[in-house]
Amino acid sequence: MSDDALVSALRDIVGERHCLTDPDLRAGYETDWTRRFSGSARAVVRPGSVGEVADVLRLCADGGIAIVPQGGNTGLVGGSVPRGGEVVVSLRRLSEIEAVDPDAGEVTCGAGTTLADIQQAARTAGWEVGVDLAARDSATIGGMVATNAGGANVLRHGPMRRQLIGFEAVLADGTIIRRLPGMVKDNTGYDLGGLIAGSEGTLAVLTRVRLRLVPPLAHRAVAVAGFGSAAAAVEAASRLRRTLGTVMALELFTDAGLDLVLRHASGPRPFAERTPFYLLVEAGSDETDPTDGLADAIGALGVEEAGAIASDAAGRRRLWELRERHTESINAEGIPHKLDVSVPAARFSELAERVHDAVRDVDVDARTIVYGHVGDGNLHVNILGPAPDDEAVDDAVLGLVLELGGSVSAEHGIGVAKVEWLVRDRGEAAVEAMRALKRAWDPQGILNPGVIFSRADS
Ligand code: FAD
Ligand code: MLT
Ligand code: ZN
Repeated sequence: MSDDALVSALRDIVGERHCLTDPDLRAGYETDWTRRFSGSARAVVRPGSVGEVADVLRLCADGGIAIVPQGGNTGLVGGSVPRGGEVVVSLRRLSEIEAVDPDAGEVTCGAGTTLADIQQAARTAGWEVGVDLAARDSATIGGMVATNAGGANVLRHGPMRRQLIGFEAVLADGTIIRRLPGMVKDNTGYDLGGLIAGSEGTLAVLTRVRLRLVPPLAHRAVAVAGFGSAAAAVEAASRLRRTLGTVMALELFTDAGLDLVLRHASGPRPFAERTPFYLLVEAGSDETDPTDGLADAIGALGVEEAGAIASDAAGRRRLWELRERHTESINAEGIPHKLDVSVPAARFSELAERVHDAVRDVDVDARTIVYGHVGDGNLHVNILGPAPDDEAVDDAVLGLVLELGGSVSAEHGIGVAKVEWLVRDRGEAAVEAMRALKRAWDPQGILNPGVIFSRADS
């Protein structure tokens, strides 16, 4: 199909205003959040209903044209932007939130709804969303399910797949499948929603999701404590998990990362003492204020006093920002290589210590900044310096992770960034089982080709 014929047919479906071909208008959809990944799209379409999504996919299937589903474009592995010549299907206009079911504690919303908007609706109805992450103002619920996003509260509530109790999606040929009644128990054959979760737009395009919500907590407290080594911080995190029943989040960052945050995103140091590693702990309770219990638990670790502790909303936010604003602060320094990995708990501190040498061995000038969700064994290794397409540092870090028995993707997905590593991580037999699913659901290979599998496999 010629470009003109394609654009004309797409405009017939979504309307002229929602089919973008002008390079300036397409630009924001063509480069990812890190600026490491980009490509040009044949067009960007913004359907306004599931029917329009289905018509776009049917048209593209008939013409053998590849598509890239896109939500908030906050993904960090290059899966949300075109590689060259695809149609980007932006789901952002599907942002309707249906009434929260106050008795069941469930909400159904369009795939393009931002996490922040769902959080607001849930809170108004007396509930809370189980997953939270710093990109909440832009990340969409469709993208979050598609990546099985994790975030700060996985320790307590699990990742996105665990929140999903219903979905509506469009298959590669334009067929709509829907299962939205909201039943916690539903063992009727394969769990298709669970399969689409984490499939990164390669099996279907999500148009609506139904989420379970969690009870809100009346009281919260956040503390940051300093440690001399990664091992000491990890040991403390593990003890807090065992002894502090109210723990919601356990996050690690370093003094080098804190320096960047204070320089780019935040004000003066919130505590005087500098240590190489910091542990952020959030505790929450519905019954009593957890502040004293949190302070006592940190005291019992042998830390003389918490670097800082806060129970009021502004103070808690200020401490959380020290951790959450790492991503944007690193981006402000350059285009990062972002490696989101996990290892078994027993190897976590070894990874956090050894990763610096592994990077230096292949690039002596590279700067490595680590932080992560220590309670989940999930470390974010960020490297500044190497050119975006120089993969030597990526290979060094991911090689070390496999040596330590870990996973090359903890929560961000495979995207295009880690395609070469999937077989090394999961093994040929498991990946062949995944390819068989991909072939069955998307026989022409038009849904996000090049993501998870190499183009030849899609
Ligand atoms: P996009 O970036 O648009 O897309 C991501 C992937 O999902 C792509 O492969 C895309 O094709 C696919 N996709 C998008 N929408 C759909 C759909 N409707 N149907 C099918 N496929 C679709 N991630 C975490 O896991 N934990 C964190 O703590 C976290 N923190 C972050 C903090 C910051 C500051 C930033 C910038 C990112 C962070 N991320 C985090 C990464 C990112 O926010 C998540 O991956 C998020 O789930 C992406 O949502 P999105 O709507 O932006 O999806
Ligand atoms: C985080 O935990 O801050 C996010 O996953 C984003 C990142 O890795 O920078
Ligand atoms: Zn993270």
